[in-house]
Amino acid sequence: MPDPARMELSLTVNGERRTVSVAPMARLLDVLREALGLTGTKEGCGEGECGACAVILDGELVNSCLVVAAQARGAAVTTVEGLLADGEPGALQRAFVAHGAAQCGICTPGMLVAARCFLDGGAPATGEAVREAIAGNLCRCTGYVKIVEAIQDAAGMEGGAGGGAAVPEGRALAASGGAGSGGGSGGGDGLGPPAAGRP
Ligand code: FES
Ligand code: FES
Repeated sequence: MPDPARMELSLTVNGERRTVSVAPMARLLDVLREALGLTGTKEGCGEGECGACAVILDGELVNSCLVVAAQARGAAVTTVEGLLADGEPGALQRAFVAHGAAQCGICTPGMLVAARCFLDGGAPATGEAVREAIAGNLCRCTGYVKIVEAIQDAAGMEGGAGGGAAVPEGRALAASGGAGSGGGSGGGDGLGPPAAGRP
């Protein structure tokens, strides 16, 4: 007999059709991590502020801690695990490694997913555009400069316009408070309001 406290949820995750039994008000974040075992997606704040839990839902970047599972019914979800190409890191992940754009790593899955969503959109990877793309993703460690450079390099490797461009002059991400390790909680990082417009 069906459990009235559970619901069947079918969705496509990283190209694979999955059906799980979940509580109706379960968060997509928990469906991914606990029901599907995709622990690459991280929980930071749990309230839509940090972007650590970012995934792509039907082509849009969302914070999965704010998405109720039922909202994902029938949807296509891409997590950080889905960014691998034939099981190998692609240009984006390699660029993060090459630039030292990950330190503690808690923000990295969300950063990669946000960057992937941006690069897939095909917009020129100017410094400003990249910073806007990751505006909802907070990093306590890197100061953002290496992350922006990595995304621009990945754009170049993937053939996108603007890829490989230097980080724009005077863009004081670091100087505005995000520099260095332990650079605060991400507030005052010069990236603008976090998660603007992101569910
Ligand atoms: S854990 Fe979802 S935005 Fe922070
Ligand atoms: S690498 Fe530590 S929070 Fe970004």
